[in-house]
Amino acid sequence: MFSESAPTLPGHWLWGNLKDFKRDNLSFIESAARAGDIVRIRFGPMGGTFLNHPDYVCQVLAARSKSFRKPAVVKRALNDILGENIFTSNGAAWKRSRQALQPAFHRRHVDRYAQIMLDCAERELRGWLADSIVDLEAAMIRVTMNIIAKTMFDADLGAYADELTAVFTRLFHLAYKRMATYALIPNWLPTRENREVKRLTAELRNLLRSYIAEWRAGRADNASLLNLVLAPEDGPPKMSDEQLINEAITIIGAGYETTAYTLVFTWLAMMQNPSVVDRVCAEVDEVIGTRALTLADLPAFDYTERVVKEALRLYPSAWGLSRSTLEPVEIAGVSLKRNSMVLVSPWTLGRDPRWFPDPLRFDPDRHLPENAASIPHYAYIPFGGGGRTCLGIRFALMEAVFIIAMIAQRFRLAPVPGSASGPKSVAFTLRPNGPLRVKLSPRNEHANTRFKPNSSRPFLCNTQKGISLCPHFG
Ligand code: HEM
Repeated sequence: MFSESAPTLPGHWLWGNLKDFKRDNLSFIESAARAGDIVRIRFGPMGGTFLNHPDYVCQVLAARSKSFRKPAVVKRALNDILGENIFTSNGAAWKRSRQALQPAFHRRHVDRYAQIMLDCAERELRGWLADSIVDLEAAMIRVTMNIIAKTMFDADLGAYADELTAVFTRLFHLAYKRMATYALIPNWLPTRENREVKRLTAELRNLLRSYIAEWRAGRADNASLLNLVLAPEDGPPKMSDEQLINEAITIIGAGYETTAYTLVFTWLAMMQNPSVVDRVCAEVDEVIGTRALTLADLPAFDYTERVVKEALRLYPSAWGLSRSTLEPVEIAGVSLKRNSMVLVSPWTLGRDPRWFPDPLRFDPDRHLPENAASIPHYAYIPFGGGGRTCLGIRFALMEAVFIIAMIAQRFRLAPVPGSASGPKSVAFTLRPNGPLRVKLSPRNEHANTRFKPNSSRPFLCNTQKGISLCPHFG
């Protein structure tokens, strides 16, 4: 059956909805969701459809995923930074990447990274002094960047995590700007921003090349993710060094910021719901008391895991997923043209009262097995769905639970007046709507251990041109 019944979201005659999207993408997708479950939208010349019903989302991500691909605009915005990679590629190229990388994310390998996660969190927390004030956003980014660098490359970033993060943040900010303007300015034009992307990307790639050289020289840990891809258990390496560099930048980009902001929003929600903090602290006290956490403790942190899952419902760091149609597709009687864009949003789905009664209430027990059974499958998609589901789910959940539990073991957190109260979205990931500085009140005498500065060698420096990798790695 064919129908034209989908409403059209009003917009500018030339730009369509692009300017509204660029101004405030969360308000934009909320207004699209208010207009219906299937709504026509337009970004400049590109027509598209916003889908806000779990059944339709299932069609796109899973049931008929072969009729969809990652949109060209996402590739145009990212590919001169990432090259061909698992996140933006399609068809056979995506399959090759997924098959080569997936084994490294099997449970038994991810479990081997537990100690790295615990050690990196411990090192971060040694710098947290009782009654001091911590910039939670910076701290969570630092610790997740340290974890991903150590697991991927056996690289000890130490204090230099901040600088590597600055390079990634800048690159992804510039890429997002390209996407939000529909990548109308070609990447090859030597604009100031395009030249900056080129310079930072070249420096980043050189750094990663040096890590691969260290691995080849036998100086990197055999348990690293790099090792699993370059020396797989089932035969010869499935990708070249340059391809691995593409995937490594992608995995770091996909893995550190999403998890860092999940941690930030989990704490924000916890601080706004003191009874949740009480239950997390009670779980921590019961499971580990004041001793060090280990991987074996993880299954016992089921309430803390539900808290993280609930934070991901209300604050999904990946707030929007996009595809384009490879062929004409019909969904709910509405026809989607070939090469048109499709947008779905974990943000609007997770806040829909049809699937989550009283949706703004932070209630981790929604994720108890007996309650979760009544949530439609594709209504809760913070990690996406179907064949392209996030590769790092276990990695991210384990990391988040460890870090929440280790902080809760030592401190109660209270936001400093004027701190962020919720999210804003101006980037690929949700961000808090202001700085999130927290005051630390110790819960026990273990809270106040002094920080020993890390002595890793520097590889990034601040130059007059801004952030740069040190010439040593150039
Ligand atoms: C809480 C943290 C995380 C969230 C919310 C998250 C979310 C997502 C989402 C929604 C997708 C699907 C995108 C789409 O379908 O367009 C995705 C894909 C992906 N994620 Fe994550 N992610 C997280 C952490 C991680 C981590 C820690 C890693 C790796 C260490 C990772 C690696 C990837 C990769 C490689 C893909 C691409 C999969 C493919 O296209 O086959 N993610 N992630």
